[in-house]
Amino acid sequence: VNISHGNQRVAATLPTGESVEILLYGATVVSWKDAAGEEKLWLSEKAALDGSKAVRGGIPLVFPVCYAPYNLLYLFHSYSVSRQVTPVANSCDKQVFGPPPPNHATSSLPQHGFARTSNWEFLGKSTSESEAEGGNADLSVKLDFGLSSAGLDAETRKKWGYDFNLIYSVTLGKKSLTTSLVVTNDDERSFELQVLMHTYFRIKDITQVSITGLQDAEYLDKVDNLKAKKETSSAVKIEGETDRVYTPSGTVAIQEGGKTSFTVTRDNLADVVLWNPWVEKAQGMGDYAPKDGYKNMVCVEAGSVRGWQTLEKGDAFEGSQTITLE
Ligand code: BG6
Repeated sequence: VNISHGNQRVAATLPTGESVEILLYGATVVSWKDAAGEEKLWLSEKAALDGSKAVRGGIPLVFPVCYAPYNLLYLFHSYSVSRQVTPVANSCDKQVFGPPPPNHATSSLPQHGFARTSNWEFLGKSTSESEAEGGNADLSVKLDFGLSSAGLDAETRKKWGYDFNLIYSVTLGKKSLTTSLVVTNDDERSFELQVLMHTYFRIKDITQVSITGLQDAEYLDKVDNLKAKKETSSAVKIEGETDRVYTPSGTVAIQEGGKTSFTVTRDNLADVVLWNPWVEKAQGMGDYAPKDGYKNMVCVEAGSVRGWQTLEKGDAFEGSQTITLE
């Protein structure tokens, strides 16, 4: 396995040709190519890769909070929940979706938290072999990245003062990529967290795409006043701005022209955000290019964002996704 490790990025290439590239800024995976050298992730042509702004594309990692607290829609939603004005959401569990309440420990943090905008440390690599068909061994490589409270800038530390440790591992296999996060609470107090692996999948033509594995799942529709709905379709099409938080029971797949391109399996990450900005939202994002890029991407984001995971002193939370190519 060929590894290169610079000040800003780590790259690995397997002998069979697959490769992955990770920025230390945010531990953001910015490229994943198959054996034929074909890119599997969408990355905006205007994505900032210099550490000045979260990366638009690849796999940004969201921690410890998903949603911007001061969005009016969320405030209204929280208000409705607290007043029980409208029968919102969550017949499936007792957790309340969404933004932290105004006095929550994460409420001064920006949308999607600080993991994607912090500088991570490369902790090292490990390789492993697995038996493959025909007696050949398949190699895979795991790259580990670390971020702890001591590594945060003072500004962020002021906004979220807990002692914690994160280990993020990116494993490149023959036809798969696994990203896995372990969060450890090193503080005297307990804290609450959300996690999201915000994968931008590169696809050829959004009109040919459908997402399977969502049928019967509950979801909250962020483009329809956070209404709680139940998915009826076995193959969800993206035909306009889409921003939904699903809680599917199993594997979710991205199909193109009826053939599976990617499958996403999750371990301890109950939720899946499905996002495509479509025409207007893409126009509104300065770092989104080309503007018709929404035709070539879909975000299927594995996470734990509906409600909160509480981590007691000394405890750890672990969640992972494995993306498989067909
Ligand atoms: C998704 C959210 O996870 O990320 C969307 O559900 C959001 O609401 C999108 O617009 C992109 O977020 P950001 O912070 O990277 O612009």
